This record gives sequence, structure tokens and C-alpha cells, in this order.
Amino acid sequence: MDPIPLLADKRILLGVTGGIAAYKACALASRLTQAGAQVDGVMTEAATHFVGPLTLQALTGRPVYTDLWTAPGEGLPTHIAHVGLAHAADLLVIAPATANTLAKLAHGIADNLLTTLALAATCPMLLAPAMDAGMWSHPATQANVAMLRERGAHFAGPVLGRMASGLVGEGRMMEPDRILGHIRWVLGREGPLRGRRVVVTAGPTREFLDPVRFLSNPSSGRQGYALAQAALDRGAAVALISGPTPLPTPVGAERVDVTTAEEMCEAVLAAVEGADTLLMAAAVADYRPAEAAAQKIKKGKEEPTLRLARTPDVLAAVAEQRAASGFPRVVVGFAAESQDLVENARAKLTAKRLDLIVANDITAPDAGFGAATNRVTILDPGGGVEELGLMSKAAVAEAVLDRVVRLLHQKPLV
Ligand code: CTP
Repeated sequence: MDPIPLLADKRILLGVTGGIAAYKACALASRLTQAGAQVDGVMTEAATHFVGPLTLQALTGRPVYTDLWTAPGEGLPTHIAHVGLAHAADLLVIAPATANTLAKLAHGIADNLLTTLALAATCPMLLAPAMDAGMWSHPATQANVAMLRERGAHFAGPVLGRMASGLVGEGRMMEPDRILGHIRWVLGREGPLRGRRVVVTAGPTREFLDPVRFLSNPSSGRQGYALAQAALDRGAAVALISGPTPLPTPVGAERVDVTTAEEMCEAVLAAVEGADTLLMAAAVADYRPAEAAAQKIKKGKEEPTLRLARTPDVLAAVAEQRAASGFPRVVVGFAAESQDLVENARAKLTAKRLDLIVANDITAPDAGFGAATNRVTILDPGGGVEELGLMSKAAVAEAVLDRVVRLLHQKPLV
């Protein structure tokens, strides 16, 4: 897994309490560690019946704390060290959080190391409950949850699904990937784009010939979704205007689904009013069938001819609106090129009045449509040309957002 700059050197206290979902806490610990975070595991006694402390220790490469009285390694006995641990943390995550632990947290009970740490900690707290659905919906648990929310605790789940009992209900712990999204959301709030509104477009559009056939392109939406995540990581409020893609919505993004270029244009023009930035990564179709049949077109003896009509150029429409309103204040376009990359991209940068253009060579097998990686060149209106090497789409998104932060730096919050 790619390092996540937001998590680099962040200290995360990962509390694990006694439920079968404890095994999934191991996956979460592994992801966080690989992403660059420093993870200190804290397990309740009940949790150790489900997974061994050694498992968590091996995955995090750090001591795991299990009780108030045992010193792991050379350190101070934990009952003294706990205040230091709690104060040093950037985030306390408890996954899974049982009904019992939620009750203790709500009432300030500190009868084990984890609940003691929670009471001493001043950092944000994210809870991923896991329990039987009946326990989750019980008025006692719901009252405890309401009390914790009131005090600023964040919740990730529980979700609807199969629980340990074999029953299906709302009580299953959220999957580690989604919990990671919540962790990023909580940690990103104070970032350099705090208070900024960023609109991102992603994915292909579809232009229908009849109810079952359309013109489209192989865009996966990955680059756009990575941009949305990188903007969220920096604290922005993100609207993600998306063409059809099976990708999950990044936690915290407000997603607007569209199908055609026309719908995308309408959604973008509405979203960019008052916005700080537009990142136009969508692969918008330039043509649509001139007529769309209401019923499925039947095959006949003749070979049909397809007549095409132009779709709106979204960036051109944005440039016009921006000339009148001043919004969005920074516009980044993308260019998909199969030849003369820099010249073609520069022409688009000028014609579409962009602040940056991110050009990629779609003929390279490891870049562009559908690939997990990209190889882009970033151009600016001052003549700057920056060729970035082969990197993941997440890393490209980081590079683009770093430049957006710099461009917005001069522009005050509205
Ligand atoms: N774009 C747009 N509206 C369209 C087509 C493209 O806003 N109808 C945007 C894309 O989202 C991208 C930029 O314009 O940010 C460049 O897209 P690209 O497909 O590379 O270029 P086109 O303008 O379509 O030009 P051409 O197809 O001739 O290369």
C-alpha cells in the first residue's frame, strides 16, 4: 500500500476490545502502519481472547499494551506511562468498540488501561462499534452513543451485515478500508484546505443511442477519486461529481452521480458557484448520438449510419461563468493525449483558461485510462513544465493538491 502523507508520523492509539471483529483490527493496524502511521495497540483483556497481542505487535512493529500493571519492554509501568501515551496521540481509534466499552466511555469509567487512556486523552476519538444488533439498538447503548457524540466523539458504523451470531442486522463492524477513510477524515480536518470548497469530477460519461447502448470511454474514475481523497486529507469540503464507476465514495465527500456530458455540465456549473477549486478529471465525451431512440434499435438489413452532435465543453462553460462571477478561483484541467503531449496540453491550458493542466500520455500501458498508475506532466500558464515520473494515481493526486494549496494560499477564504 502507498504511504499516505497525511498519516506520516501520526501517532494513533488503536484500542481493541473483546469482539470477534478484533481480527479485523489487525488488518486496520497493518494498513495504518504501511501507510506510515505509528500505531500503538492497546487491548482489553477480553480482546486478547480473540487475537493475541503478539499479532498486533508484529503488524505494528511496536509494543502492545494490555493492562495497567505490566511494563512492555524497558518502559515505565503502564499505569504511569499511560498519561504520556494518551497525551502523545493524534487520534484514539477503538475498533471494535463493544457495547460495554461504549458504556464505560460515556460514563467516564476507567477500569482498564484502554478506558483509562481514553479518559486521559485530549486527541479526537473515533469509535467503530461492533455488537449484536439488539445490543446496538438498545436504548441504553443509543443513549451512550448520543452522549459520546455530544462530547465530540466520531463514529464509524456499525453497518448492516452478518454478525457473529449468524444473524443479519445493524451491528457489524465497518470494514477496515472504510474505517481508514474515517480516520483520514478526522485527521484531515485542520489541514491547509480547511474552509475551502473543492469540486472534483471523475469517471466517464455515457451518451445513449437507445435505452441499452451508449458511447463512452474506458475511464475508471480512479484519478478523480484519488484527487477527491487528497483534497479531503487537506481539510477541504469536497463535492465529487461522478460519471458511472463502481468505486466507493471517499469518506466525507458529497457525491453527485451523473451519466451524460450534459448532466455533468449542469452539475458542475451549479457546484462551482462560490467554490475555491475545480479539478476536472472526468473523461467527458465530446460527442453524443444526434438522436437517441426511445426504444431499442432493432437490427435491419441496412448498415446504419451514426450521426453525432457535440456535447457541451464543461471547462469552456466554467471559464465563461468564472469570468462573470470569479468562481471557482483555481481551475485545474486534465489532458488525455496520444501525441505531442506538451504542445497539445499547452493549447488546452490556454483555450480553457486553466491555472494548471495535468497531461497524460494515454498510449503508455502503465498510465491513463483504467491503469492504477499514471505518468503525468504538469503545465502552468507561466511556461512551467514539470514531468513527474511513473507513480500511483494517489501520488499524482498528492502532487496536484500540493500545487492547488500553493495557488490558493494567496486567495483569502470567502
Ligand atoms: N472536458 C470538458 N468538456 C468536454 C470534454 C473535455 O470539460 N466536453 C475537459 C476534461 O475533463 C479535461 C479537459 O477538458 O479536463 C481536456 O479534455 P480532453 O479530452 O483531453 O480534451 P478535449 O477538450 O476533449 O480535446 P480533444 O478531445 O480534442 O483532445
